Amino acid sequence: MESALTARDRVGVQDFVLLENYTSEAAFIENLRKRFKENLIYTYISSVLVSVNPYKDLEIYTKNHMERYRGVNFYEVSPHIYATSDNSYRSMRTERRDQCILISGESGAGKTEASKKILQYYAVTCPASDQVQTVKDRLLQSNPVLEAFGNAKTLRNDNSSRFGKYMDIQFDFKGAPVGGHIINYLLEKSRVVHQNHGERNFHIFYQLIEGGEEDLLRRLGLERNPQHYQYLVKGNCPKVSSINDRSDWKQVRKALTVIGFSEDEVEELMNIISSVLHLGNMQYGGDDGGSACITSDTQIKYLSRLLGVSGTVLTEALTHRKIIAKGEELMSPLNIEQASAARDALSKAVYGRTFTWLVNKINGSLAYTDESNKNSSVIGLLDIYGFEVFQYNSFEQFCINYCNEKLQQLFIELTLKSEQEEYEAEGITWEPVQYFNNKIICDLVEEKFKGIISILDEECLRPGDASDITFLEKLEDTVGSHPHFVTHKLADTKTRKLMGREEFRLLHYAGDVNYNVNGFLDKNNDLLYRNLKEVMCMSENKILTQCFDREELTDKKRPDTAATQFKSSLAKLMEILMSKEPSYVRCIKPNDSKQAGRFDEVLIRHQVKYLGLMENLRVRRAGFAYRRRYEIFLQRYKSLCPDTWPNWQGKLPEGVSTLVKHLGYKPEEYKMGRSKIFIRFPKTLFATEDALETRKQSLATKLQAGWKGYTQKTKYQKLRRSAIRIEAWWRGILARRRAQRRRKASDTIRRFIRGFIYRHQERCPQNEYFLDYVRYAFLMNLHRNAPKNVLDKSWPTPPPALTEASEHLRKMCMQNMVWTYCKKISPEWKHQMEQKTVASELFKDKKDNYPQSVPKLFVSTRLSTKMAQLEGQHQYAVPVTKYDRNGYRARPRQLLLTGDSIVIVEEGKMKQRIEYGALKGISVSSLSDGVFVLHVPSTDNKQKGDVVLQSDHVIETLTKVAICGEKADNVNINQGSITFALSQGKEGVIDFTPGSELLVAKAKNGHLAVVSTQTSG
Ligand SMILES: Nc1ncnc2c1ncn2[C@@H]1O[C@H](COP(=O)(O)OP(=O)(O)OP(=O)(O)O)[C@@H](O)[C@H]1O
Ligand SMILES: [Mg+2]
Repeated sequence: MESALTARDRVGVQDFVLLENYTSEAAFIENLRKRFKENLIYTYISSVLVSVNPYKDLEIYTKNHMERYRGVNFYEVSPHIYATSDNSYRSMRTERRDQCILISGESGAGKTEASKKILQYYAVTCPASDQVQTVKDRLLQSNPVLEAFGNAKTLRNDNSSRFGKYMDIQFDFKGAPVGGHIINYLLEKSRVVHQNHGERNFHIFYQLIEGGEEDLLRRLGLERNPQHYQYLVKGNCPKVSSINDRSDWKQVRKALTVIGFSEDEVEELMNIISSVLHLGNMQYGGDDGGSACITSDTQIKYLSRLLGVSGTVLTEALTHRKIIAKGEELMSPLNIEQASAARDALSKAVYGRTFTWLVNKINGSLAYTDESNKNSSVIGLLDIYGFEVFQYNSFEQFCINYCNEKLQQLFIELTLKSEQEEYEAEGITWEPVQYFNNKIICDLVEEKFKGIISILDEECLRPGDASDITFLEKLEDTVGSHPHFVTHKLADTKTRKLMGREEFRLLHYAGDVNYNVNGFLDKNNDLLYRNLKEVMCMSENKILTQCFDREELTDKKRPDTAATQFKSSLAKLMEILMSKEPSYVRCIKPNDSKQAGRFDEVLIRHQVKYLGLMENLRVRRAGFAYRRRYEIFLQRYKSLCPDTWPNWQGKLPEGVSTLVKHLGYKPEEYKMGRSKIFIRFPKTLFATEDALETRKQSLATKLQAGWKGYTQKTKYQKLRRSAIRIEAWWRGILARRRAQRRRKASDTIRRFIRGFIYRHQERCPQNEYFLDYVRYAFLMNLHRNAPKNVLDKSWPTPPPALTEASEHLRKMCMQNMVWTYCKKISPEWKHQMEQKTVASELFKDKKDNYPQSVPKLFVSTRLSTKMAQLEGQHQYAVPVTKYDRNGYRARPRQLLLTGDSIVIVEEGKMKQRIEYGALKGISVSSLSDGVFVLHVPSTDNKQKGDVVLQSDHVIETLTKVAICGEKADNVNINQGSITFALSQGKEGVIDFTPGSELLVAKAKNGHLAVVSTQTSG
């Protein structure tokens, strides 16, 4: 129910008890309709299951579904036939009390399907062993067999059960199904000989004809065409699209084998079935006296063989009636009509008794034989015809509806009784429930001497001209005043219009039904002429010998009429059911056209009424809508009260009491029993349920938050731990690295110090590192600070070990620089350098103004361009001052160097030419003056003595002269004075003195005095 509570807003209510407007039929039907539309075919009325036939296969009967319902509390899952099955099973197991499940509803409402589902549920979910498996198989296989022989296509149902069935399933102490027992009720035998239009005979006839093997059919004298058999064509509908007779035959044959039928038994059974068909085809003719005779022998021949009786005897029995008059047996011929009736009676009797035999045979195979196990329990399944109201209602409907009255009676007694017992057990004051007790109708039908059945029996038995009409009159006389009985004669004018003269009306609990009395007496008598019984008793067919007992013939007591038999079997059934705890399945048919999804409200309202569902609901609701054991109630709702949440420590009733007070229940809304709380109105419960729903949300949020917090915290802690671990590792790595570096550094320092100490010793382990380092450092230093040009003479000081190498390197470095320098040098520069080299060799450290000349480049001419042109071809030209030999007067001249001589020119006019070959030497002072003397041989007449010249570029001029004249070795650098030759053997002297100012003049001593400064040159 709890699941019903939570789901109630979605598709109606799952339990009608929770319907607020429980007295409204419209609300009831609306709830059914809503659910049906959503394929929710099951709804409870408390423990009663209401099932609406979906007329389509729903995916709700799988093994998974079975598992879902197995061992689960009835009210925790949505309504289902499996929940009902499981509930009964568990009650049987836990309370050790026999159970029964009563399935009712009108034809086609799904009773048989429901009973099969229950059986399948037990077969699948109950524990099993090999032996149990056989029983399970037999239990399951009994269905197709019984359906073949007892079901037929009717207008209402293509597989309508034409008998009532009660089946006990026995379970051992472990809960495994170990046996079964079936009781059948009132097979509709009349169908064997007659079917209404659109209906068929029992399935087995068609199955045999369609599916029977050729051989078998030949033996049975049958043709594979149902149209050939009178008994099969009455309804003009031998073929039904929804039925496959051929495959059903195979299934039935297999089922018969599983149940334990031998081949012979099957053969004999089929002999009987086919004999019925042959009986139906028997043709009668009349002789002159109107007596019937059989016109064709064929059937008799077959019948004699199939039934194992003499053909002649059978023929006679079928056309005569044995009368015992005054102790004498007489054979009275029958007219055609009588003979046909006798034949039909025989067919019905043969078939009916064979059906009973079949049930017994199945019972034999299902019987639980283990006598040692007395502890077995039982679940009974009652699949019995529901209330029937047709246009024309006959004896069968009378019996069926009587049966339903009895079941309603049982239901009222059991339901009210159990309700009452519950209140008593719980110590709650019983409040009487207003309901219609149909006992009065049951009595009307069954009361001894005064009831309808008694009156019917009386009419059947009494001598004289009893007929259906006299029976009706008798009824009027005897029960005419009964409030639930009306006939045409007794009725008011309004009712009379709706009734035939041959009808009586019973006001059943479920509605009024008019019964036509025609055929009541015959059907009740169910008469089979004695001589036909005798023939059957002589049969060699083993099944028939069991069906027709010879004792029957000798027994003087008249057998009970059909109605009485039915009454007693019902009484027995009631006894059986009363001894068990009942569960109810009320089946409803949604429409008359076997269509899925069609909800015919009129039809359903009718069924709701005659199934007594509103009554049922009212009874249930008269007391309390909801009751639940304290522990379950508290467990479910404890979260709604701070005192009971999360756990109630005290006694359960006090906990529940605290809880409901907290919820604000008013005293009239609930009662506290001994072990249960009873809540009167659904709205109270819904309010609680709504509160729970809200609470669940907030609890869920809280739980979610808590959980999220917890998971986040755990995650965070994990992250934190991981981070710390990584940090620690990393720190460790760093520290180790640092330590390693320090160790390395200290090692290095130590090695350095040690190396330093041992640095002067031979290479040894103590100093090798140091030495290597010093070498390395030197080389690196050299690499960084090596001289960059040839003039840079710096060189790092090498360690002692590298002195030699350093020297090599230094040379290599210098060579390399020189080589690089030389490679870069131009020819002009080379020439310049060569001249500079010569100058250096000549004057370095010898003449004072040499250093000043070094940075000045030598040029090829120092004359103005114009003058140089005048001088013509020369290699060098420079202005000079010539001091003549006589007064040392200074005369400006130009000195030119040609390829072979020195030429002194004055303004373009050659004054003197000295060939290089004639140049003896060149003299110059060591001071910084520019005076020099070109010595020529005194023997050369062309010359007038040595030439005294002065050049401002004396170093350059003399170097050029020395180079051109190849006179490098002839340059003399003189200290103090130079003596030079004058013409005619005279000599002149030049005195050189350092001074502050350049001065060249004739001194008093006749010498040429040259005072030179430091800067000139
Ligand atoms: N639960 C169900 N699911 C699907 N189809 C169903 C279900 N119940 C019944 N039916 C359909 O309805 C048909 C009639 O059902 P069933 O034979 O059980 O009716 P019944 O109440 O036993 O009728 P009768 O009183 O005539 O024997 C079935 O053959 C089947 O087609
Ligand atoms: Mg049925």
